[in-house]
Amino acid sequence: MILSEITSFRDGNPQCKTCGGVGFYLEEQVRGSRAGALSLCHCVGMECNTCEAKGQAPYLVYDKSQNTMIPCVCHNARFSIKKCERLVDQANIPPRYQFQFLSTIDLGESNTDPDLSFIVAHDWANELVHHFEDPKFARKGFYLWGGTGSGKTLLACVILNELIFRYGIRCKYAKVNKDFLSAIRDTYQTDSDTHGQERFIERELANVDVLVIDDFGVQKETEFSNRKLYDLIDSRYEQDKLTLLTSNHSLSEWKERGQGRIFSRLNEMTKEIQLKCPDYRLKHAVDRSS
Ligand SMILES: Nc1ncnc2c1ncn2[C@@H]1O[C@H](COP(=O)(O)OP(=O)(O)O)[C@@H](O)[C@H]1O
Ligand SMILES: [Mg+2]
Ligand SMILES: [Zn+2]
Ligand SMILES: [Zn+2]
Repeated sequence: MILSEITSFRDGNPQCKTCGGVGFYLEEQVRGSRAGALSLCHCVGMECNTCEAKGQAPYLVYDKSQNTMIPCVCHNARFSIKKCERLVDQANIPPRYQFQFLSTIDLGESNTDPDLSFIVAHDWANELVHHFEDPKFARKGFYLWGGTGSGKTLLACVILNELIFRYGIRCKYAKVNKDFLSAIRDTYQTDSDTHGQERFIERELANVDVLVIDDFGVQKETEFSNRKLYDLIDSRYEQDKLTLLTSNHSLSEWKERGQGRIFSRLNEMTKEIQLKCPDYRLKHAVDRSS
């Protein structure tokens, strides 16, 4: 996939048809990995046969005339690749959902099939991603809910990938239990690697520019989890940071469960969108067998 529309990197040959001048491109569905990978384009790599540290930073070559090391022709493109990879890595996006973009999502055959709700969510995501840095745009997170396999995690991660590639935004993906509540509980164990780091975890998730809280609602409802979640959401609310949530439950269920405080915060911070589409994996298993 050519990335020239979603990144501003121009480290390649402007005439190159493979990378559109970016200097690298997305190789989709690399063997052994679910998602794609970024590859150095041949328009840069062909000329890099002098780079002794091929593929390894700092990508310098010896220049005889100046008697010093200078950046190889591949230097900028390789650094840009590393920069994108580092942001995706720091965002904790699960491998299956890394390097997936709005344009790589399957939108179904027509607007009339029952997947209309997915198209609504996709349009909304598209709007957010394109206007993210526009000061006049009223930025809002989403509360995306629906059944298993309806594409909630995919859509949330696609937004992170787009924001990383387009603007270099610091993002974070957190599964509500594994990456937040259990991670905090682990810090109470004296033999844990993260012992004593509760504040660090909380601060990181509270302050990151864009946060995905995935599978919100699967956590056991305890005084502890309700308080921790409220504090996290409230802190992001106060700082006006963008938060994207996915859940199997509707937003109003939080109100019915007596979590009015969480409900009213989320109600203000997010747009609720219900995905009504069937489980993508099951649907496509049927397609393949027929
Ligand atoms: N519209 C879609 N286009 C391409 N793949 C999809 C789509 N919807 C779901 N998938 C794939 O189906 C699987 C389940 O989607 P996922 O986002 O994990 O569902 P959920 O989080 O709602 O349970 C994932 O592998 C995802 O990549
Ligand atoms: Mg999911
Ligand atoms: Zn190229
Ligand atoms: Zn080189």
